[in-house]
Amino acid sequence: MLETLAVGAGQAKVLEAINLLVDFARFHFVEEEKLMERAGFEGLPIHRAQHVRLLEQMAQIERHFKEGSRLTDDTVIQRLRDWAVDHLLAEDRKYAATLTGKYIQ
Ligand SMILES: [Fe+2]
Repeated sequence: MLETLAVGAGQAKVLEAINLLVDFARFHFVEEEKLMERAGFEGLPIHRAQHVRLLEQMAQIERHFKEGSRLTDDTVIQRLRDWAVDHLLAEDRKYAATLTGKYIQ
């Protein structure tokens, strides 16, 4: 998906990729929150709020892009990468120990 954005695709392709990413993010967030709930992860309310904020930011990127703002493809890619790295690799790992202790022996 990010590869699609990285090759300087046209606006329709970029929007399609953003939509796919938003759909994936929604699915991922819902499933992740279910896991956290089952595991009794104390940080769930904060993490859920981060998910809401991320979806809002993604919607904002999509809206700006549709409105023809001067966001370059590179800016869109960088923001989406920041989202992926900052949240998926940093925040999501915080509950890994909780899940590991409960489900993985
Ligand atoms: Fe998350």
